[in-house]
Amino acid sequence: MTTATLSLPKHEVKDLGLAPLGKQRIEWAAREMQVLAQIRERFAQEKPFAGIRLVACCHVTTETANLALALQAGGADSVLIASNPLSTQDDVAASLVSDYGISVFAIKGEDVATYHRHVQIALDHRPNIIIDDGSDVTAELVQHRKGQLADIIGTTEETTTGIVRLKAMFKAGVLSFPVMTVNDAETKHFFDNRYGTGQSTLDGILRCTNILLAGKTVVVAGYGWCAKGVAMRARGMGSQVIVTEVNPVRALEAVMDGFRVMPMSEAAPLGDIFITVTGNKHVIRGEHFDRMKDGAMVCNSGHFDIEVDLVALEERTTSRQVVRPFTEEFRLKSGKSVVVLGEGRLINLAAAEGHPASVMDMSFANQALGCEYLVKNKGNLAPGLHPIPVEVDQEIAALKLKAMGIQIDSLTPEQIEYGNSWTAGT
Ligand code: ADE
Repeated sequence: MTTATLSLPKHEVKDLGLAPLGKQRIEWAAREMQVLAQIRERFAQEKPFAGIRLVACCHVTTETANLALALQAGGADSVLIASNPLSTQDDVAASLVSDYGISVFAIKGEDVATYHRHVQIALDHRPNIIIDDGSDVTAELVQHRKGQLADIIGTTEETTTGIVRLKAMFKAGVLSFPVMTVNDAETKHFFDNRYGTGQSTLDGILRCTNILLAGKTVVVAGYGWCAKGVAMRARGMGSQVIVTEVNPVRALEAVMDGFRVMPMSEAAPLGDIFITVTGNKHVIRGEHFDRMKDGAMVCNSGHFDIEVDLVALEERTTSRQVVRPFTEEFRLKSGKSVVVLGEGRLINLAAAEGHPASVMDMSFANQALGCEYLVKNKGNLAPGLHPIPVEVDQEIAALKLKAMGIQIDSLTPEQIEYGNSWTAGT
């Protein structure tokens, strides 16, 4: 582990010697992040974050590095910490510190106590803006750092799970500042949650198991935006996909999208691979493990590692063995085994590299512009949740299309008039 030296910003990363590889990979990701690159160029001119202290609690990946560089170009004084103990890319953390002078506290595999210590270090930076991914920093701020609330201009939130928590905070009356709900932007969840999670979840499973997905029965728990992507991509790889849901509208949508839908208790004996993507807890429980096939694989792609009840699994277990990286076999008292991937944490970030840069380009464009919006509207936004403005969402999509070399039609004056009138009918 490397800690601070005189010439470098404060940091706690695994090994600064990994920086050259990290830099190369950050630059590789940048090739697919043209929208963020344009924002970075403008920020470099306009310096919207001059004098702003910023904390970003994100997965420390090549894509996050490009976000951090855009914020730095805009003048932000940033501290970056991991939003998950297993998702940090140590080479990226090293490069951000030694090549770009950004303060990073993140080590892949850090224990939960270290994770929480890093949250404290981040808050010690006395941020004006917090970029959160799961709302851990925001929850800590409103509970235990009330004295710092006056410093806060606002926060942004990246995930569905984080927004659920923020709504609960607002209901409890503890949210005294504006929050930009980045996840709810169309250019975020339509793409990152669906295509990003869809691809990267399978990427994680394949990197740690190298199994053939064709012909396997994959059980996807949930049918929100992330789960939809996973189900769609598993089907594309030739798996038979079963969806489990608690929401009748989403269950119906899954049925009409052509998936088999049933309760987890019925899916348990059928599945070869189980993927939880619900945002809720204990979606796979003891009673489900009891019914699974010998050798069934279980993983999670929801934000927190509570979707699979690993305590219930341990209670049934006589021995455990890591059989490949991020692949652990639990031998049960019944004689059968269950294989847990990525310790039940986000499989796409634990065993692979998270969502590809091309979708994170739009998510992080929303983050960057959401932060700018907070600063520009300082003092004018009510406490509570605020959407990314529709015009910003549309602009990000337009820039992405341009970067992809795709042109689209625009409305004729006659069509605009028609769209604004109600008199023309049958
Ligand atoms: N969340 C999912 N994928 C990610 C990535 N590549 N970088 C940062 N956050 C992510």
